Amino acid sequence: MKAFVHENSELKFTDIAKPEVGKGEVIVALKTAGLNRRDTKIPLRRGDAKEPLILGSDGAGIVESVGEGVTAWQVGDEVLINPSLRWYEKSNAPSAKFDILGMPDHGTFAEKICISAEQLEKKPAYLSWQESATVALAGLTGYRALVTKGQIQEGQTVFIPGAGSGVATFLIQFAKQMGARVIVTSRSEEKRRQATEIGADLAIDTNSDWQIELKNECVDLVIESVGRSTFNRSLNVLKQGGRIVVFGATTEDIVDLNLREFFYGQYTLLGTTMGSREELRDMLSFIETHQIHPIIDSVLPLEHTSEAFAKLDESVQFGKIVLQIT
Ligand SMILES: NC(=O)c1ccc[n+]([C@@H]2O[C@H](COP(=O)([O-])OP(=O)(O)OC[C@H]3O[C@@H](n4cnc5c(N)ncnc54)[C@H](OP(=O)(O)O)[C@@H]3O)[C@@H](O)[C@H]2O)c1
Repeated sequence: MKAFVHENSELKFTDIAKPEVGKGEVIVALKTAGLNRRDTKIPLRRGDAKEPLILGSDGAGIVESVGEGVTAWQVGDEVLINPSLRWYEKSNAPSAKFDILGMPDHGTFAEKICISAEQLEKKPAYLSWQESATVALAGLTGYRALVTKGQIQEGQTVFIPGAGSGVATFLIQFAKQMGARVIVTSRSEEKRRQATEIGADLAIDTNSDWQIELKNECVDLVIESVGRSTFNRSLNVLKQGGRIVVFGATTEDIVDLNLREFFYGQYTLLGTTMGSREELRDMLSFIETHQIHPIIDSVLPLEHTSEAFAKLDESVQFGKIVLQIT
């Protein structure tokens, strides 16, 4: 079968053996896959590993065969893949068995995937195949950051730097639907315009003076994923006693933190990553109830995955990039 793999320090679109279904597993013929920032970082993390690894965390497709003992799924079922492996119940943090699909296990950038039957969810009927491939990783991450960790309440103000990111486009729509005031930043005027179109109440330039721009605002919650280039500026616009949730560091991981200002400010800093199956199901039910559609930036064929990676590296996208497989 065709797949996009990392092998011997190289990324390539190639032929790889089809998987064989085992006990408790399902083979899904993938129709679409969704790209995430994580995929672009895997080559660095794997270095010169010799064996091929199929990249990709997000995907949607049709059940092609089921292994011994699988009763929940049947051939022909339309499903999406839950990339948050072996984390089923909502908890403060996952157990040591947790991993994210796409390293070390083979991922979704292929014609087929063999995966535990526990990792499938029914494809929401109102979403297209392209949309279905984008909701699991970014939607789940955003939902847990905003709801479980951020405890957003109707009438509160949430501040989200980096409006164009895949997760941010979900955050904007979720927070707006929950009755929050939504303020975002972007370096791009076009992305600021797009952010207001999908629900942001205010979109400011990432390179402006936020303390001046937001002097009349009361920010209850910051959802941070840009990292070093914005973290301290985000803290500076957070109200005293406010919450800041971090799930990413697109720019740099290491930040300088003035501890005195932090404890005088009575802030709460919360870390989060992905989410449990319980939260994924809550999120899928939430988007279906409110008919929320993921924001898709572009769709490229699987054989053009390298091009999609380059696009993400340049941060030119607004929303999710999809790979069309069949
Ligand atoms: N922990 C988890 O479970 C989890 C899950 C998903 C994602 N993540 C992480 O969360 C982050 C966001 O991921 P994503 O895939 O949704 O989006 P992304 O493509 O990494 O987008 C990052 C956003 O950051 C902004 N940005 C990039 N470079 C910047 C710079 N130098 N200065 C200021 N802003 C900059 C851009 O905003 P503008 O172009 O609008 O200015 C861009 O939209 C990534 O770091 C990713 O690894 C973590």
